[in-house]
Amino acid sequence: MSRLIVVSNRVAPIQEARPAAGGLAIGVLDALKETGGVWFGWSGETISEPSVPVIEKQGNVTYATVGLTKRDYDEYYRGFSNTTLWPTFHYRNDLSRYDRGDYAGYQRVNATLAKQLKELLRPSDIIWVHDYHLLPFARCLRELGVKNPIGFFLHIPFPVPEVLRTIPPHEELVKAMCSYDVIGFQTEADRQSFVDYIERGQHGTSSEDGMVHAYNRFLKVGAYPIGIYPDAIAKAAEQFTDRKAVRSLRDGMRGRKLIMSVDRLDYSKGLVERFQAFERLLLNAPGWHGRVSLVQIAPPTRADVQTYQRIRQTLEGEAGRINGRFAQLDWTPIQYLNRKYERNLLMALFRQSQVGYVTPLRDGMNLVAKEYVASQDPADPGVLVLSQFAGAAEQLPGALVVNPFDLSQMAEALERALSMPLAERQARHADMMEPMRENNLSVWRDTFLDDLRHVATASSVTAKAVKLADVTASS
Ligand code: G6P
Repeated sequence: MSRLIVVSNRVAPIQEARPAAGGLAIGVLDALKETGGVWFGWSGETISEPSVPVIEKQGNVTYATVGLTKRDYDEYYRGFSNTTLWPTFHYRNDLSRYDRGDYAGYQRVNATLAKQLKELLRPSDIIWVHDYHLLPFARCLRELGVKNPIGFFLHIPFPVPEVLRTIPPHEELVKAMCSYDVIGFQTEADRQSFVDYIERGQHGTSSEDGMVHAYNRFLKVGAYPIGIYPDAIAKAAEQFTDRKAVRSLRDGMRGRKLIMSVDRLDYSKGLVERFQAFERLLLNAPGWHGRVSLVQIAPPTRADVQTYQRIRQTLEGEAGRINGRFAQLDWTPIQYLNRKYERNLLMALFRQSQVGYVTPLRDGMNLVAKEYVASQDPADPGVLVLSQFAGAAEQLPGALVVNPFDLSQMAEALERALSMPLAERQARHADMMEPMRENNLSVWRDTFLDDLRHVATASSVTAKAVKLADVTASS
């Protein structure tokens, strides 16, 4: 059986009880633990001199991590990945900045990481690369002569060609992506954007079965929506209900209803609009004063990127303003917490709330939406209010789907969720649990890896046939 080598910028969390991380870390770790294998990437540390990977084993997963120099971190992570790719891929060209030096650093770090990984590879390994930090990683490996099957999964949205083209080296990036054997996106719309770029730019062709022929390569391009393990989450939510933090939350509610949100503090998450829509609910429906609170948990991330400093300030201002306007001596409308909580504890907190409020302006999938539903008590479930611009909206038919740019619609959805009768809540919850069970995290992983094994074998046969045809034609 071939080993699975997972490559991603962030390798986390090595210790089980670490607080919740982004969707990638959660999805990949759970998936890797089942098959076993190697997880390779950045250690999260900056170091003064480049060094060899540090190898640690935990159960059946081997972690191989490397530090980045301050320059690498600035150019590759803070620069091109998070100041150019992240905002543009989330349709925020207004926040995106391009710097040629950062792009050179991005390429250099990809090449260095590829060289370091090559030393650890065996010929039978199958390699699965994750996310926007590593778009050119397969090309770097191929340049070093690596022939193993290499797949890529993008956890964030892939923008339409008009938006992608605002990144100056867009074509170089897409061409490099074609060195993968399989590229996976979260949604059909993201997949279509990639294929549109290839076809409308006349860089290649695609066929019905999802195969793309571009830049002399055959690759499969598909939508593989990432899942969770809903029953395991339901169990954890129930088991953690007796924790002190959960009890304090419950006691503090004193019969009030609770709306809950958990996001990294990121401008793509629509936090300002979310607060303002909650404010609109309080304005339109004074009957809710003193009877409902919004708990927003938002651990800061990427705090050294300017746009993140700005969103943090704006949000603090909005929370203060709204609370100042409506609070009573015994009631704070918005509880805004900039801290991390352990994942299982979060699930138990979700279970105490009546509404899950997940309204990103743009999101690849948003696993919090799925986790909110899974953590509910089926006998008395909360209602999910979900943005139409989260990949999860396609998959959670029982959610109240909203446009996060329409504050009035969001306020109405909150009111409807808060007043929804039990039978409707139960029916909506059941409608979402079943598809989540059918498309759980193992299905996501296995479908992707089966395609990768299959396509890598088929393309090498096709490539050999093409070469043979060339030789025959020229002889
Ligand atoms: C998102 C991205 C991940 C990233 C995570 C946390 O989920 O898709 O690739 O790891 O955010 O962001 P950070 O910059 O802290 O790694």
